[in-house]
Amino acid sequence: MQGGDSRERKSGPFPGAEGAETPLSREDGEERKDRADAGANASGTASVVGAAAEGPRGTSRRGISRRGLFGLAGAGVAGLGIGIAADRGVQAVAAAGAPAAGSTVYPFYQEHQAGIVTPAQDRLHFAAFDLAPGATRADLISLLQDWTAAAAALTAGRDIGSYGAVGGPYDAPPEDTGEAFGLPPAGLTITVGFGPTLFETSAGLDRFGLASARPDALVDLPHFPGDQLEAARGGGDLCIQACADDPQVAVHAIRNLSRIAFGRAAIRWSQLGFGRTSSTSTSQATPRNLFGFKDGTANVKAEQPAVVDEHVWVGAGDGPAWLTGGSYLVARRIRMTIETWDRTALREQETVFGRTKGEGAPLSGGTEFTEPDFASTGNTGAPLIAATSHVRLAHPAQNNGVQLLRRGYNFVDGNDDLGRLEAGLFFISYQRRPSQFTTVQLALARHDAMNEYVRHVGSALFAVPPGAARGSYLGAALFA
Ligand code: HEM
Repeated sequence: MQGGDSRERKSGPFPGAEGAETPLSREDGEERKDRADAGANASGTASVVGAAAEGPRGTSRRGISRRGLFGLAGAGVAGLGIGIAADRGVQAVAAAGAPAAGSTVYPFYQEHQAGIVTPAQDRLHFAAFDLAPGATRADLISLLQDWTAAAAALTAGRDIGSYGAVGGPYDAPPEDTGEAFGLPPAGLTITVGFGPTLFETSAGLDRFGLASARPDALVDLPHFPGDQLEAARGGGDLCIQACADDPQVAVHAIRNLSRIAFGRAAIRWSQLGFGRTSSTSTSQATPRNLFGFKDGTANVKAEQPAVVDEHVWVGAGDGPAWLTGGSYLVARRIRMTIETWDRTALREQETVFGRTKGEGAPLSGGTEFTEPDFASTGNTGAPLIAATSHVRLAHPAQNNGVQLLRRGYNFVDGNDDLGRLEAGLFFISYQRRPSQFTTVQLALARHDAMNEYVRHVGSALFAVPPGAARGSYLGAALFA
């Protein structure tokens, strides 16, 4: 498993060394070199290193120019070789001895896809796609192959294609859209999933010869009490979750992957998330959701490999073999009526969750990570953690031991004409079986005191295949 992702972090001097695949070669025209240099760093090497000292952002891709590379070599960075030239200048920063903020690179080719037990990054861009009318099985396979190659490059901090944003022919559109030029990898992960309609449309059409490979559990989630789902915010043949510590890096990934899909698939709906609402590693502090409460305290964490194996990864024999080592992703766009919430007394707010707002401790006592004691009662004999509180209803003890790996994000998408924020929580959870989510959500939808302040408006379920092997592509086993 991918547990202990923190141990897999590569923040050493050459985090994106896979960049060797896309060097700028000596044969590139001088005109292009000069344009690239002018766009990246007009003054060459000295300011490549100098820029590193200025701070993390403006430092990086300046190192990709050949002029910068040769300069670095001249400055004593032995053994870099031309092969790493196309990596962003994070290398240049590290070579100068200062670890670059945002230089985290998570390996792409591994047993499980990254972006699940990976320590939850700060930013999200999530997109669901539909295959184009008339797209063929060959189109789908080629799309997954192209996405895999692009995702490997993007997560390593490289541009798309051989020439990237500014290195290509002057009279052709650049291969990479360019808005991440100069930015470090920022811990980007790209996680791809397959929706039920990829296997069979709601009209029963088997477009890609995949109907017999659909896992029995990969069907639309049931309608839960209180659901107010909007068709335009749910479903999808495919999905991509892009998480990064820099919003521009996450958006750049989705933009370029959808550009690559042009003619084969198009975005059906998408969601930006500006702040994580979970911790997926014990190394992380617990963030807060837009109700102001710590969120992610009692979550499945990467450092619990046995729990992850039992509750997150699809096991051998659970269903079709192509999904073994994968997971199921549930996405729910949950609107929060924060204006109502903000007029609610602190006592009511804490009663709704069953935890204190400041520390995040259970109302039965202790500190943040103390196990809630659901049996303890107050002076009046009433339970300290109310029967309708969110944590009681969602706790494994009330749900046959079921656990979820929650990986959601806060969002604010503008406002309505009364000045109310279109705010909420884009809930994402990973689980071995969709029924884990259904069990918990059914209990919440029926009884949760929080329902007065939330509304589920979007819903989707995807099967997330295991990670790709180097030289292969995401989901390859589905087409074997
Ligand atoms: C706007 C929607 C939601 C908000 C604001 C919210 C907030 C919270 C908060 C503050 C906690 C306590 C801290 C923690 O342990 O992380 C919590 C716990 C939890 N939530 Fe939610 N949540 C939301 C939706 C959901 C949904 C849809 C599910 C699943 C169907 C869910 C499942 C859980 C679980 C399993 C726990 C841990 C319970 C425990 O073991 O103590 N939550 N949530």
